[in-house]
Amino acid sequence: MPPIKVAVNGYGVIGKRVVSAVQVQKDMELVGISDVVADWRVKMAASMKIPIYCSMPERAEEMRRGGIEVSGFLDGLLRQVDVVVDCAPTKIGIKNKATYEGANVRGSSRGRETRGGGDVFRGPMQLQRINGQKVHEGCEL
Ligand SMILES: NC(=O)c1ccc[n+]([C@@H]2O[C@H](COP(=O)([O-])OP(=O)(O)OC[C@H]3O[C@@H](n4cnc5c(N)ncnc54)[C@H](O)[C@@H]3O)[C@@H](O)[C@H]2O)c1
Repeated sequence: MPPIKVAVNGYGVIGKRVVSAVQVQKDMELVGISDVVADWRVKMAASMKIPIYCSMPERAEEMRRGGIEVSGFLDGLLRQVDVVVDCAPTKIGIKNKATYEGANVRGSSRGRETRGGGDVFRGPMQLQRINGQKVHEGCEL
């Protein structure tokens, strides 16, 4: 079975941990991360050769000026993945829900969106089950 292709949107405290968890799963492949800044975490991801995308096109130039090679925009990343874990600040995740649905990508948010987000926006531990099937064992976040 091909690996589940994963994107992480928002590479902060939680996004970095989610990426680490995804990277140790044998049946998952991290396709890339997306963010809006070129801070130390994003620079670390770049140094690990993780493809970096920009979630807001108007921030891409600033990221490039900050030394990040921007591989493209969030929509392009979404076209390559099965699952996106939204680790952007609270309230941004819910705004992205329609984008994820439009891209036909299953989404999971680390924020509090589960309250109003409906089925596609469960917590990341739900990544253990996609379409009812268990996809990996344990995931320490
Ligand atoms: N830190 C915790 O202990 C904790 C615990 C539980 C839940 N959460 C939730 O997880 C989410 C992320 O929290 P965090 O602590 O990692 O925050 P953080 O501020 O460390 O990271 C957020 C990241 O998202 C990026 N970002 C900002 N705007 C963005 C956008 N429009 N699109 C994509 N990325 C964007 C920021 O640049 C940053 O890298 C929040 O919803 C928070 O409530 C955090």
